[in-house]
Amino acid sequence: MSATPLMIVVLAAGKGTRMKSDLPKVLHAVGGRSMLGHVLDLASASQAEKVAVVVGPAQDNVTQSALTIAPNVEVFVQENQLGTADALKAANKAIAAHSGDVIVLYADTPLIEPATIDRLRASLDAGASVAVLGFEAVDPTGYGRLLTDSTGKLIAIREHKDASEVERAIRLCNSGVMAFRVTDLVGVLARIGNANAKGEYYLTDAVEIIRTDGGDAAVVTCAEAEVLGVNSRVELAQAEAIFQRRRRRRAMEDGATLIAPETVWFSYDTVIGRDVVVQPNVYFGLGVRVEDGVEILANCHFEKAHIGKYARVGPFARLRPGASLGANVHIGNFVEVKNTEVGEGAKANHLAYLGDGSVGANANIGAGKII
Ligand code: UD1
Ligand code: MG
Repeated sequence: MSATPLMIVVLAAGKGTRMKSDLPKVLHAVGGRSMLGHVLDLASASQAEKVAVVVGPAQDNVTQSALTIAPNVEVFVQENQLGTADALKAANKAIAAHSGDVIVLYADTPLIEPATIDRLRASLDAGASVAVLGFEAVDPTGYGRLLTDSTGKLIAIREHKDASEVERAIRLCNSGVMAFRVTDLVGVLARIGNANAKGEYYLTDAVEIIRTDGGDAAVVTCAEAEVLGVNSRVELAQAEAIFQRRRRRRAMEDGATLIAPETVWFSYDTVIGRDVVVQPNVYFGLGVRVEDGVEILANCHFEKAHIGKYARVGPFARLRPGASLGANVHIGNFVEVKNTEVGEGAKANHLAYLGDGSVGANANIGAGKII
């Protein structure tokens, strides 16, 4: 990993009108975590020394959410949405005070992996002044195109609206993630103009400016799925689907058997042990921890709950916040547990509600009981 100090700037301003929501776009969740949360997690996994978040005016809930997730972030307000370069300029003070790499991330692009950030930094270490994360788009419409020379070196980024027909045929696109190692990024930003189809200050123009100054520009590529940007509820569902596929694969790689993986739903913080077997249609809400050897029968719903070793839960069981099952506990069909510790070896096999209580070890709760 690169030893150069890293600053990450997360661009989170923007109305997200196409979401048709009272909630700012970047606070919508994927795997139970806001998109902003995913990007801030990426920043911390990338060991950024400094993280700045750029928010729009009247977005106090975005600021609050950023500070709750990562108390050390610096928040900057972009007063008018004049484009991505203008958004980055809002963080000028922090950028000027930093010496090292600067990486720009979009808060509506929640699926990027830390290893990809490492690859961008490696390309700065290898001498590039700017490195852009690109991908081959199945349908490149709307994206900025990466214009390269015969050796594959990046020459410029052309926004879709400003591109010629020939340029529009290029499928190599800009993901929006850019990494900079320039001594004077603030100076580069100041030279970006707005003479383009949208009348905006495009951050992507930095590439041409840096090249004119004699710097090298590199492209690092990744899969399209990793850089999916969310602008609508349909794209939010696409991001969720990608997230779930990844998370299921990880659970299986870590030693859990998912009989029908595509029917099991995880949250970003689900902890699941080895030799756990999960039957179809199980939903893991936030804050669930499952220990080794547990068997989860079909059609269960869990939230903020703990399941001890070798317990058997379901079918049709519901664990609500504060449910904590000891080792070898059996919770059967149509049993709901809330805020209750169930002692080792206890059983509640049918039709019961265990709420705000405590069940001793090896107790046997009969059918129809309410506690
Ligand atoms: C941008 C890129 C394009 C790339 C695409 C990838 C530019 C000029 N273009 O286009 O090359 O292919 O992303 O998805 O950068 N934002 C602000 N303030 C602003 C404008 C934008 O904070 O004034 C934030 C938005 O909230 C968003 C991000 O910057 O998170 C990108 O802005 P958006 O307007 O979506 O850019 P695109 O047109 O998608
Ligand atoms: Mg966009």
